[in-house]
Amino acid sequence: MIVLMGMMGSGKSSVGRMLTRRLNLVAIDLDREIERRVGLTVAEIFALHGEAYFRILEEEALLRLAETGRPMILSLGGGAVLSHRGMEALKTKATAVIYLKASVPQLLMRLKYSRVKRPLLENTADPSGRLGELLAVRRPLYERYADFTVDTNGKLLSAVAEEIYDLVRPRLSARGRD
Ligand code: S3P
Repeated sequence: MIVLMGMMGSGKSSVGRMLTRRLNLVAIDLDREIERRVGLTVAEIFALHGEAYFRILEEEALLRLAETGRPMILSLGGGAVLSHRGMEALKTKATAVIYLKASVPQLLMRLKYSRVKRPLLENTADPSGRLGELLAVRRPLYERYADFTVDTNGKLLSAVAEEIYDLVRPRLSARGRD
């Protein structure tokens, strides 16, 4: 299991998809997994039940996926790192946990081209300030759980995928699979 984490807009889902063929692993997106189980989009879950409930679902999904131990590339939602239990469970199973690091301006630029709704940025006049606040809380957590940090600033996501491939390939061949 290869885990991709980082803020919304850091490129986790796209990079995960790009790596599937090269690593011959399925790519699972934690948000899509939650949506599939609940039958609601992440935006709907936030609107109907609030963020705290979303975090409970997110932790459950993390624990469930860690439990399966299935070989996969798992892209986390930006806030999944807030679950200590979930992250500890992942760490026991993951071949590599990778932090996709990006500055706030870089995140904003990538988010501009995204079709996915980000409820945490919906009701703010200052998305840049909001992202900065979220990053301040989460950066130490990303750094704590990361085996590798990849700076994605100013890079094409295909180049980021290549870097990650080079980082994880020795670990994967050492373990034979996942
Ligand atoms: C969130 C990030 C989103 C999604 C939800 C909350 C966050 O995932 O889980 O909107 O708290 O940063 P992405 O990082 O894939 O956008």
